[in-house]
Amino acid sequence: MQLEVRKYRGTDHDAVVALWRRVFADAPRRNDPVRDIQRKLDHQPELFLVAREPDELVGTAMAGYDGHRGWLHLVAVAPHARKRGIGRALLARAEQLLADLGCPKLNIQVRASAAEPVAFYERLGYRIEERISMGKELAPNRET
Ligand SMILES: CC(C)(COP(=O)(O)OP(=O)(O)OC[C@H]1O[C@@H](n2cnc3c(N)ncnc32)[C@H](O)[C@@H]1OP(=O)(O)O)[C@@H](O)C(=O)NCCC(=O)NCCS
Repeated sequence: MQLEVRKYRGTDHDAVVALWRRVFADAPRRNDPVRDIQRKLDHQPELFLVAREPDELVGTAMAGYDGHRGWLHLVAVAPHARKRGIGRALLARAEQLLADLGCPKLNIQVRASAAEPVAFYERLGYRIEERISMGKELAPNRET
C-alpha cells in the first residue's frame, strides 16, 4: 500500500482525533485530542506529522525542539496497520526534521508499564536511559 508521511493538514483533524481516542483510550483527561491539536498548531506545527495511505490516515507523530532537546509525542499507528513500517517511517521523518533544525538529541517518554513501544523504539536505535522522569501540572494562563 502506498504510504505518504507529511505535515498535518486541517482535513486530517477528525481522523487524528479518532485515532488518538482509540489508541490512547486510557490517556489522562488533560490530553484532550482536540486541544492537543490546537496547541500544536500554535507551536512548531511543521513538526506534526501524519502517515496516510490512499484512503485513510494510519498514523501520527508529534515532535518538538526546545533548543536543547527534541521530543516525540503521540506516536500512534492504527491497530490494523501495524508492523508494516509505518511507525518507522514516521520517526525517520521526525528525526530528519529535528536534525535539520540542529537538534542534537531526541527523547521519548514511555510509560513504565508499556513494553511494546519500548521494543519498537529499541528496534529503531533508541536506548533506555537511567533517568527519573518528573512532571508538574500547570494551570495555563491562556487558552490556545
Ligand atoms: C508502537 C507503534 C507506534 C509501532 O508502529 P508500527 O507501525 O507497528 O511499527 P513498525 O512496523 O514501523 O516497526 C518498526 C520495527 O519495530 C518492530 N516492532 C513494532 N512493534 C513492535 C512490538 N510491539 N514489539 C516488538 N517489536 C515491534 C517491528 O517489528 C519493526 O522491526 P523490523 O524493522 O526489524 O521488522 C504502534 O504499535 C502503536 O501505535 N502502538 C500504540 C501506541 C503507542 O504505544 N505509542 C507509543 C507511545 S510512547
